Amino acid sequence: MTQVDVIVIGAGAAGLMCAAQAGYRGRSVTVLDMGKKPGRKILISGGGRCNFTNENASPENYLCGNPHFVKSCLSRYTQHDFIELVDRHGLAYHHKTLGQLFCDNSAQDIVDILLTECEWAGVNVALRNEVLSVEKTATGYLVITEQQSYSCESLVVAAGGLTMPKLGATPIGYKIAEQFGLKVLPTMAALVPFTLHQHDKDRFEGLSGISVACIVSSEDGTSFKENILFTHRGLSGPAILQISSFWRAGQAVTINLLPELDLTAQLATWRETQAQKSLKNSLATILPKRFIEILHESKAIPDCNVNQLTHSQIYDLANYIHNWQIKPNGTEGYRTAEVTLGGIDTDELSSKTFEAKKAQGLYFIGEVTDVTGWLGGYNFQYAWSCGFAAGQYC
Ligand code: FDA
Repeated sequence: MTQVDVIVIGAGAAGLMCAAQAGYRGRSVTVLDMGKKPGRKILISGGGRCNFTNENASPENYLCGNPHFVKSCLSRYTQHDFIELVDRHGLAYHHKTLGQLFCDNSAQDIVDILLTECEWAGVNVALRNEVLSVEKTATGYLVITEQQSYSCESLVVAAGGLTMPKLGATPIGYKIAEQFGLKVLPTMAALVPFTLHQHDKDRFEGLSGISVACIVSSEDGTSFKENILFTHRGLSGPAILQISSFWRAGQAVTINLLPELDLTAQLATWRETQAQKSLKNSLATILPKRFIEILHESKAIPDCNVNQLTHSQIYDLANYIHNWQIKPNGTEGYRTAEVTLGGIDTDELSSKTFEAKKAQGLYFIGEVTDVTGWLGGYNFQYAWSCGFAAGQYC
């Protein structure tokens, strides 16, 4: 049996950040992870370049049962604090769009920074060490892994959510929470592509690879202005991933296919300038040609010249293109999702320390908690902020 002050379950973004902080406070810390490498999700994130934070991160960018919960940790360790950390380590990075910061070289650079911090703080990272169970003891917790047992005063659960089971996602975090009487809210795959009903899949399959700049809205009124991407399974792209966190089974999403243009005004202009041109060919100059052909085949676009359109046809067509409705069949699920929506109810945790209100010395941080960021570096920022917060107290 190994005795340490702090055990952290999970060598991901939140766990490594927390471990280094606790180590700097003089605590003896061991991080346990079942994987053969630390930070496996960091390594595959952002297409291998890790979108490690967002310059504009603020509490509004997070979904959580209690929208106030993230305020404290985000203000005590901000995106600027993380940027200062990576600057100190000499990371080469760049700004992409919408405040998103990416590594110039590789996501491995972020993992190396976290491991260097852990090394400087005297943290022991024990890999290939799956945690099987946890027990309460008189002085803290007993953690039983495949290989050995650890006893600790503080136990930090940073075991992530259910996304990407191939990368070692397990429900252990939720199980430990339930074992100690904490409420776990229903979970769902989020930041995930949509699949389509067979009828729509057959219609749009040929558009696979085509991307369109849109505004996508969910039934609760949330909207994102970014690209959508047709895939051979359905719809993806940043706007779709964003809205998937707000979509619920059975609902439709509304897509403004021409967010920068007033189609009614454009049709009026065309009536003056190209009255004899077919409507289909005219529309194919402002939207992907193959997409227009599909809408034409399904009679959503009248088979006529621009000047033959009636007023009601103009109204209907503009309404159709600006409010294209599609009802997803579902999502691609945890296999491809970037995050898990739901998780440990934040009402069970202190927003200052992340300690469970019902279990002294037990902390939950990262994706396992009911906090889900938008796409764009917000999820890593939450991992850094909550890891930092818990690391001051565990
Ligand atoms: P994380 O899942 O990273 O770590 C949990 C760790 O616990 C894992 O290493 C796992 O092996 C370990 N574990 C689980 N069960 C265990 C057990 N029983 N015993 C021992 N160890 C166990 N976010 C962002 O901000 N920018 C981005 O660019 C991206 N890109 C991105 C791409 C893809 C493909 C995915 C899947 C996700 C992203 N994300 C992202 C989201 C981001 O990766 C995610 O929010 C964080 O990794 C969550 O960090 P955690 O530390 O909470 O969990």
